Amino acid sequence: AAPCDIYASGGTPCVAAHSTTRALFSAFTGSLYQVKRASDGATKNIAPLSAGGVANAAAQDSFCAGTTCLITIIFDQTGRSNHLTQAPPGGAAQGPEAGGFDSLAAADGAPVTLNGQKAYGVFIPPGTGYRNDATNGIATGDASEGMYAVLDGTHFNGGCCFDYGNAETSARDTGNGHMEAIYFGDITVWGSGAGRGPWIMADLENGLFSGFNVKVNTGDPSVTSRFVTAVVKGQPNNWAIRGGNAASGALSTAYNGVRPNATGYNPMKKEGAIILGIGGDNSIGAQGTFYEGVMTSGFPSDATENSVQANIVAAKYATTSRVSGPAVNVGSTVSFRATTACCTTRFIAHTGTAVNTQVVTSGSSSALKLSASWNVVTGLANSECVSFESRDTPGSFIRHFNFGLLVNANDGSKQFHEDATFCPRAGLNGQGSSLQSWSYPTRYFRHFNNVLSIARSGGPQTFDSATSFNDDISFVVGAAFA
Ligand code: AHR
Ligand code: AHR
Repeated sequence: AAPCDIYASGGTPCVAAHSTTRALFSAFTGSLYQVKRASDGATKNIAPLSAGGVANAAAQDSFCAGTTCLITIIFDQTGRSNHLTQAPPGGAAQGPEAGGFDSLAAADGAPVTLNGQKAYGVFIPPGTGYRNDATNGIATGDASEGMYAVLDGTHFNGGCCFDYGNAETSARDTGNGHMEAIYFGDITVWGSGAGRGPWIMADLENGLFSGFNVKVNTGDPSVTSRFVTAVVKGQPNNWAIRGGNAASGALSTAYNGVRPNATGYNPMKKEGAIILGIGGDNSIGAQGTFYEGVMTSGFPSDATENSVQANIVAAKYATTSRVSGPAVNVGSTVSFRATTACCTTRFIAHTGTAVNTQVVTSGSSSALKLSASWNVVTGLANSECVSFESRDTPGSFIRHFNFGLLVNANDGSKQFHEDATFCPRAGLNGQGSSLQSWSYPTRYFRHFNNVLSIARSGGPQTFDSATSFNDDISFVVGAAFA
């Protein structure tokens, strides 16, 4: 049995079921998600390899070969059409895309394996979000519901709010108790749990709750596993947070009791929209990775959830690398040569903090040669990927800021580490490597008017132009000049 079969036999059926990695009903053979490619705007639906099985990641890989793809739709597997699509602007924020919509996730940002078969999760940077404001069968008012999500326990931040669950149908903050969603991250503006986080909390609107108290509840532990199962459920004057390692072991209960010690949360005023990666009012400051999740009708028993956790563990989520193409070895010193026809004698260099391309030859000054030479080090944020230290300014690294590339001193912050981590991939034009931003996987090193940024073909920035995109993001990584 799959998670939604288990919830159904427990009397609390799924009313929404979302996953880009696998079917959540054992009989499900329909589309799991849709991808759209930059090259021609065509879309393709990705289905499980077999009924109840893992997503056909190879179909995505061949459709997206030689271009980049975004996840446009995460289909609802329940038959209720509670699909998740690009989130519209809300009360807190306009998204970065046309019309104030939020960005869409890269199709290849979160590769994993399930029982050894490759699949892709939904890697959500700040500014990215999905939503459905016109749902069918999702709890409203004080009605009972449950939900779980499988997330990446190492991908989070302190922005508001990486959520999955029940939110306002208006994308506006309509008051306390108008949401009931899983939150994951280490924001401490509202509640928090034991240790330094990240924590599973419940976003009930105008508050992330870790238990009965408005602020700290030490019964809610910091999450330390790579894969995490997060559970929130609620019924009249009773709600719970549960969690566990999605790759092994059981769920434990962080809180199960009455509604929080604050006004406006009993009775609840749930509205029944569904959000992923954002707050109820389209707050877009958070990041995280989603693999699968459901919402139920009715308050699931702990026993039902324990069986779902056993099923998740049996799915055997495991990591796999985001890196491909020619080796870019830690410990080596490198140069990056542009491959666009205009620019094949130009190399990535820097002038002060500005990263650019310059013509460099064996006859160039030693200062220019050094400015075009880089140490490859283990990725500051993630050891699967790499960071590039300036040879002429030790301790300074290439990092993105407002999507431009800069050489800045490492200030030791998590933000800097993430901004300075890149995952080399086979060059998109067939030459060399394309350097994918770890934290914004839709974006790659690009030279545009000889200035470096992280760019996405067709994105909202000037340097996101689709013209010569594949060439502009492909660099031959060779020996350093100095
Ligand atoms: O409850 C925390 C956040 O507060 C909600 O997600 C958002 O709607 C509001 O800004
Ligand atoms: O480059 C995008 C973001 O801009 C970086 O992650 C952050 O440092 C800055 O706000």
